[in-house]
Amino acid sequence: MNDARNETAGVGALGYIGIGVSSPEKWAEFGNLLGLMPGAPGTDGSIRYRMDDQAWRIALHPDSSDDCLYAGFDCGTSAGFEAVLVRIAQAGITATRDGDLAHVRGVMELARLVDPDGVPLELYYGPRIVPEQPFRSPQALSGFMTGANGFGHMIVNASDPAASLAFYVDVLGLSLSDRILFEAAPGVVIPLVFLHCNERHHSIAIAPKMPGSKRVHHLMFEVPGINDVGLALDRVTAAGLEISATLGRHSNDHMISFYVRTPSGFEVEYGCAGLAVDRATWTVSDHASISIWGHKREHI
Ligand SMILES: [Fe+2]
Repeated sequence: MNDARNETAGVGALGYIGIGVSSPEKWAEFGNLLGLMPGAPGTDGSIRYRMDDQAWRIALHPDSSDDCLYAGFDCGTSAGFEAVLVRIAQAGITATRDGDLAHVRGVMELARLVDPDGVPLELYYGPRIVPEQPFRSPQALSGFMTGANGFGHMIVNASDPAASLAFYVDVLGLSLSDRILFEAAPGVVIPLVFLHCNERHHSIAIAPKMPGSKRVHHLMFEVPGINDVGLALDRVTAAGLEISATLGRHSNDHMISFYVRTPSGFEVEYGCAGLAVDRATWTVSDHASISIWGHKREHI
């Protein structure tokens, strides 16, 4: 990993995600419970959800994969986009500019590539925003914590975690936040590595891939306050959804959150009070526990 990276030449935020879903009906109810706002459908047949002024953040594509189909990184500006493409080319990796796909996604320019596990990634700038159609959550929720910090975070299950770490840091320009050596069972330690590209403590985290696991372990959505978290927990509990980890506070990003199983099998973490990273002063730390309290699970 190259610590002499250029902080300005990396991606700026995890801006959107596309998910293949076998049950759009269950996802519609799930999205409603979490407070996502239905947006205009995509020209590609996707069902789109909003979290803020951006035209969409989450796109659901009816298919049988029940997994991440693509993730988009916002590069902020045309200059930022071009700088990331230069960085990628210097790493010997091909990113393909795709104007047709940019039109479908509703962004000004886009280039696509894949991560070491073959997860399609899209680099872009200039997402469409629709402030003339104000964000209104179907729940009593003022909004999500998004903006320049992106929609949230994604934990990827990597078949070669070292290769994925090198890719996301050296090629895309994210920075190491910290690591947790998570003792999943006595004597079974799972290293989790957390990476940031803005003030959000992590936009991407890398976990070792287990047999049969999906591309994504979980997505995280951050809301303004603890009451937003508690009210959502009440809603998903009343709806009979599986709480895969109880309310708790993480040791590294201080997020107070719970985890709920999506209709696609992976999880969504829903929380508040995440730590803001100052990239100028941040120093890396190592943790032996995933949480200060809570986050009790029956399954990893
Ligand atoms: Fe998380």
